[in-house]
Amino acid sequence: ATKTRSISTMSVGEDNVSSSVKRQLAQLFEISLRETVPGESDVVPIVDSCSDKSGGKFGDYQCNNAMVLWSKIKGKQTGFRGPPSVGQAIMKNLPPSEMIESCSVAGPGFVNVVLSKNWIAQSLLRMLIDGIDTWAPRLSLKRAVVDFSSPNIAKEMHVGHLRSTIIGDTLARMLEFSHVEVLRRNHVGDWGTQFGMLIEFLFEKFPNPEEVNEAAIGDLQAFYKASKLKFDSDPEFKQRAQLAVVRLQGGEVRYRKAWKQICEISRTEFHRVYERLGVQLEEKGESFYNPYIPRVLEELDNKGLIEESEGARVIFVDGVNIPLIVVKSDGGFNYASTDLAALWYRLNEEKAEWIIYVTDVGQQQHFDMVFKAAKRAGWLPANDSSYPKATHVGFGLVLGEDGKRFRTRNTEVVRLVDLLDEAKSRSKTAVLERDAAKDWPEEEVEKTSEAVGYGAVKYADLKNNRLSNYTFNFDQMLNDKGNTAVYLLYAHARICSIIRKSGKDIEELKRNGNIVLDHDGERALGLHLVQFSEVVEEACTNLLPSTLCDYLYNLSDIFTKKFYSNCQVIGSPEETSRLLLCEATATVMRKCFYLLGIVPVYKI
Ligand code: ARG
Repeated sequence: ATKTRSISTMSVGEDNVSSSVKRQLAQLFEISLRETVPGESDVVPIVDSCSDKSGGKFGDYQCNNAMVLWSKIKGKQTGFRGPPSVGQAIMKNLPPSEMIESCSVAGPGFVNVVLSKNWIAQSLLRMLIDGIDTWAPRLSLKRAVVDFSSPNIAKEMHVGHLRSTIIGDTLARMLEFSHVEVLRRNHVGDWGTQFGMLIEFLFEKFPNPEEVNEAAIGDLQAFYKASKLKFDSDPEFKQRAQLAVVRLQGGEVRYRKAWKQICEISRTEFHRVYERLGVQLEEKGESFYNPYIPRVLEELDNKGLIEESEGARVIFVDGVNIPLIVVKSDGGFNYASTDLAALWYRLNEEKAEWIIYVTDVGQQQHFDMVFKAAKRAGWLPANDSSYPKATHVGFGLVLGEDGKRFRTRNTEVVRLVDLLDEAKSRSKTAVLERDAAKDWPEEEVEKTSEAVGYGAVKYADLKNNRLSNYTFNFDQMLNDKGNTAVYLLYAHARICSIIRKSGKDIEELKRNGNIVLDHDGERALGLHLVQFSEVVEEACTNLLPSTLCDYLYNLSDIFTKKFYSNCQVIGSPEETSRLLLCEATATVMRKCFYLLGIVPVYKI
């Protein structure tokens, strides 16, 4: 039989981009499966790495198709006697490949694969020469929207927004690395009835609009509170504020201008936080979608989705007993009408295939209803297994030591800037205590404190499964032992210093040196390194940054415990190969840091 390489479901991507080990093996198994049961159309290879779970006892990867296949073909005249014999055939039909050292069939038909250590070594060397971007996975979509951070004007950015900013930025980075064009959207809350009261209050405080600026207003949150107090206690003011909303919506110049001024002050505040966190975003706030709402609702109405309920206009969706209100009883639009318009815009104007919303789990029902409405309208396929699709990435609460919602001392919410200040000053104290930092210039101390401090805050958030609540604890996140950014950053710096101390030119070694993985520790490290690509792919598919954190932590662990404690580097006969292994580890660690939004440290 001729062996055709039809690899429909797994595109290898363009030149110079290698696909993950898992995908490459899956391709081999796909060929074998077609050969094993000719005519069987549904032969999606089920391949997984297994060295983690079994300690390598069953090889490095496993193919689990035999059992499924047997259940389909038993009773037919195939000559197979049971799953193990199907497994044997799958193994026999595997095309020869330099990737594979050996195979075996175990138990009920698992095909176990041991990778060739030579092949692993060559992959590492090629990555070092061509750059780690050649290990980027290729996903089957071109463009995504990540809607994240999205604070509200005149209200403080709080820890919830910090979580959204950190998680959203990482997801965007991972997708971008995987060749997806990402539109990073800041869906700022810049519209709504609160602006009536804010504007009226602004007019009262500053009869001369020229005087309005950040310095004069000071804390916008306090400004919001004061105006709210007046709104609740002064009926005459309340009336004026309500009228102001109408005038603002009607586009009256003086009102638009005041609105813009207020937004601008908030924006400056938000940007300070983004800059410190190294996060880039493009603002398309709620107001941006206003002009689209009427026609989007008209479309939904024409499709028969919109009903009348208690004076409001609503959409009913499956499985939820309350309707989604899209026009309030006073005729105004709301959060949901804006989100429907935004979704429409992202699908039709921006042509995004995957639209990802990062907010706390409290908004899950809102998004569930918006997505279901979009499915009823035929904007999205009913089934989430194909694009275009919309996904809500929910996350849990940040808790304080008392197990309650995180707050600082007297304030109701935690100001993000204060939190970042504290992270930096604490890490600076720790950095200054280190011997190595004694004669660093001030600039270096600052840079390192920021990298470590902000990195610690980010990593403490990202390493958890995002759906669970987590306790915010400075002492814990800044500990240099355990699963923390500090530990990982220092581990990276130590690897860099091994390379420095060797006195060798690493670029020269990349060109002329070789990697050998004869020691178990070397092989274990090499294997973990070549699995980077499939881990990023998995983290992207499941939108779970913690997957990448686990990988990074394991990498550091394997480096230290399996490799470095058993394999002498400097001065050993294997020095060149081992230095290259150090360099490969540092390279992969740095890419992990980058994807997690953490700035690496090279010296400590
Ligand atoms: N501004 C909202 C909040 O602070 C988050 C917006 C999320 N994005 C969206 N498209 N609804 O809770």
